[in-house]
Amino acid sequence: MAVKDKKKSITPLVDILNHDIDGIIRWCTPSIHPKVPKINGIYTNDISVSYHKIGNPSMDTGVFHQAHKLAAKAYKADHTLFSVNGSTGSNFIVLRALKHQLGKVKMLAQRNVHKSISCAIEDYQIDVAYLKPHYDNKLQIFVPNKIEEIVSSLKKDPSINLLLLSLPTYEGLSIDLKQLVKQVRRFNNDLIIFVDEAWGAHFPFSHKMPVCAMEAGADICVQSTHKQGSGLQQTSMIHWQGNRVKRRFVLDSYQCLITTSPSFHLLASIDAARYLMETQGKEIIDDLLEVSNNLREGLKRIPGVRVISEDYIISHHKQVTAIDKSKVLVNVAETGISGFELAHYLEEKYKVIVEKYEASNILFLTTFQNSQFEAEQTIKYVKDAIGTLQKMKNRPKTIVFPEFPENILKDRSSFSVNGNHFTKEDIAKSVGKVCAEYVVPYPPGIPLLAKGEIIQKEHIEYLNALRHYKDLTYVLMSDKDISTILVAR
Ligand SMILES: Cc1ncc(COP(=O)(O)O)c(C=O)c1O
Repeated sequence: MAVKDKKKSITPLVDILNHDIDGIIRWCTPSIHPKVPKINGIYTNDISVSYHKIGNPSMDTGVFHQAHKLAAKAYKADHTLFSVNGSTGSNFIVLRALKHQLGKVKMLAQRNVHKSISCAIEDYQIDVAYLKPHYDNKLQIFVPNKIEEIVSSLKKDPSINLLLLSLPTYEGLSIDLKQLVKQVRRFNNDLIIFVDEAWGAHFPFSHKMPVCAMEAGADICVQSTHKQGSGLQQTSMIHWQGNRVKRRFVLDSYQCLITTSPSFHLLASIDAARYLMETQGKEIIDDLLEVSNNLREGLKRIPGVRVISEDYIISHHKQVTAIDKSKVLVNVAETGISGFELAHYLEEKYKVIVEKYEASNILFLTTFQNSQFEAEQTIKYVKDAIGTLQKMKNRPKTIVFPEFPENILKDRSSFSVNGNHFTKEDIAKSVGKVCAEYVVPYPPGIPLLAKGEIIQKEHIEYLNALRHYKDLTYVLMSDKDISTILVAR
């Protein structure tokens, strides 16, 4: 039974899950392999920590400890903890632990930090220095920083005691992490290297993927098991190794921030994902790449569709040494249709869901459940959709953006811009003022402005362009109309 009238449903969410998902072609998370061991009867076997015999997850005891240890071995770490609020929750746990361990934290980070990081640094009063971002204006994507830039920023400021790298990027780009760790260790043996590896839960299991953070020698990392690791939504792992990160601080934060009643089904789903990846990861990643390759090849044949190749990215951005090819990034600018329109049409007409879409791009995430058949169907649907949309009248014209501003002028730490110390300002009058909110436009999905930074003319030009293409882009900020911005008083 399809959900016909959602208003009349007494259990709308239940109905959607029971009746609406079937038949959808999902090029998006969660990535769950059909062969992953399943948990029986989720209603009948739900149980809590009151069942003492099995141990307590937040205390890391009993079967939970056993499962954590098995995962640590599989994911090349010394220690692992399972987390049930995604990498969002895991990032909070790690940053709280590091704050408690280090006292004063000065963090160097790339600009592509997830919201959980920008929120946690505020909550834990962590001072952050952002590396000037690299942005490919043609592809409209963030590109990671060069090793030399990271090393030189660290050398310039010896007070930095934490390096955060969000790698791979959303589009799957990574750098030579092993080399970076090696170079950093030559002059600073105490610096803690934390990798937000939300998109890399599958990396430890195939040499066709970028080297994982633990293998590269990072101290601590988080992964979203639900993204490319075959776990249910919300699942995540925290891995760490060596002596720089102290176990008691991580456990203390884990106990503070994880619910006292985590879903054992979610935790068990991480255990099952670990088993699948450990025993069959290499083969299933080979299959995954075959599907993504077929999708890529088929999409390439559609006129006006440009599939961004690994060769193109590596030749234009030498620091990128590895790419997760399960991500298929497509630029549709030449078709005269926006990524936004195409993605909406694919969803409405063909029930094809993509991971991300923006002004000119669509990102397909090849997941463990995608089949060759789905790849073929999708290629056909994309071709049909472009043909139909091109015939429609009043299509928006090709989108032209100004260059993404890369210059960052920090006035104060984000945590100093809290309470009532801000006011709403007309964006046209805001140049030179201190921004009191995060402004994250799509594209590119990284902060244009962070709290505590000075608003520059180029920021306003970029925001004006977004406002012009308001139906095809979006911006995360307080005013959805992009007319006002919060500034510090
Ligand atoms: C780099 C990065 N870190 C953390 C997260 C949060 O992950 P989760 O959805 O598992 O909470 C995301 C989500 O997309 C992400 O891209």
